[in-house]
Amino acid sequence: MKLNIEHVTVNIGKDCILPDISLQAAQGEFLSLQGPSGCGKSTLLKAIAGILPVEQGQIFLDGQDITQMPIHKRGTVIVFQDMRLFPNMNVEDNIAFPLKMQRLPKAQRLQTARELLEKVQLAGYGKRRIHQLSGGQQQRVALARALAAKPKLLLLDEPFSALDEELRQGMRELVLKLHRDFNMTTIMVTHDRPEALSMSDRIIAMSNGQIVDILKKST
Ligand SMILES: Nc1ncnc2c1ncn2[C@@H]1O[C@H](COP(=O)(O)OP(=O)(O)OP(=O)(O)O)[C@@H](O)[C@H]1O
Ligand SMILES: [Mg+2]
Repeated sequence: MKLNIEHVTVNIGKDCILPDISLQAAQGEFLSLQGPSGCGKSTLLKAIAGILPVEQGQIFLDGQDITQMPIHKRGTVIVFQDMRLFPNMNVEDNIAFPLKMQRLPKAQRLQTARELLEKVQLAGYGKRRIHQLSGGQQQRVALARALAAKPKLLLLDEPFSALDEELRQGMRELVLKLHRDFNMTTIMVTHDRPEALSMSDRIIAMSNGQIVDILKKST
C-alpha cells in the first residue's frame, strides 16, 4: 500500500502541532520516525490512522483520499507502546476482536486468532488471561491483534520501548518477518538509532512538527 501525505496540518486544541508535513512511503517500505520528545511523531501516526483530524492537506493510500475516512475503514492500524489490550478478555478473544467488529463468524475469528498466535510464537496461549503473560508476550499479542485486521499500513509507536534488550531483539526480528510475510508498508517510531538503522529502508528525522532529514539506507 502506497502512502502519500500531502501538506498536512494537524492542530491539537489551539496548538499547531504539524504545520505542513509531506511524506511518501512506497508499497512494502519500512520507515522509521525519529526526533526529540514532543516533536510530533505520535501525532503524525495518529493523523494517518484517523485518530486525530487533519486540518488541511490530504492523505492518500494507493491513490485513494482517506483524509476524512473513518478509522476502521482506512486499512491502517496502530500498535502503541502501552498496547491497550482488553484485560477482561482472554488472549484469543483480544486478537479476534477486530474481526468481531467486522462481524465475521466466531469459528472463523478463532481460526484466524490461532493462526496469528502461531505467527507470533504464542501457540497454545489463546485461553490465557492478559495478566498471565509477560510484557514481551503481551506485546506479541498486541501485534497479532493489529495483524488480525489485515492492515495495509502498519503504524508502530515505540512498540518495544518497555521491553528489555533481549526481548527487543526478538521482537525486531519478528516485526521484520511479519512485515515481509504480509508485505505491509510499515512506519515505526523508535528512539533507538541502531534499531532504526537495522530495520528500516529510510529514517525520517522530525523536529518541531517538521521533517528535517531523510536518511536512505544504502543497500
Ligand atoms: N492531547 C493533547 N493535548 C494537548 N497537546 C498535546 C496532546 N497530545 C500531544 N500534544 C502536544 O503535541 C506535541 C507533539 O506530541 P507527540 O505526542 O506527537 O510527540 P512525540 O514526538 O510522539 O513525543 P514522544 O517521543 O515523547 O512520544 C507535544 O508538544 C505535545 O505536548
Ligand atoms: Mg510519541
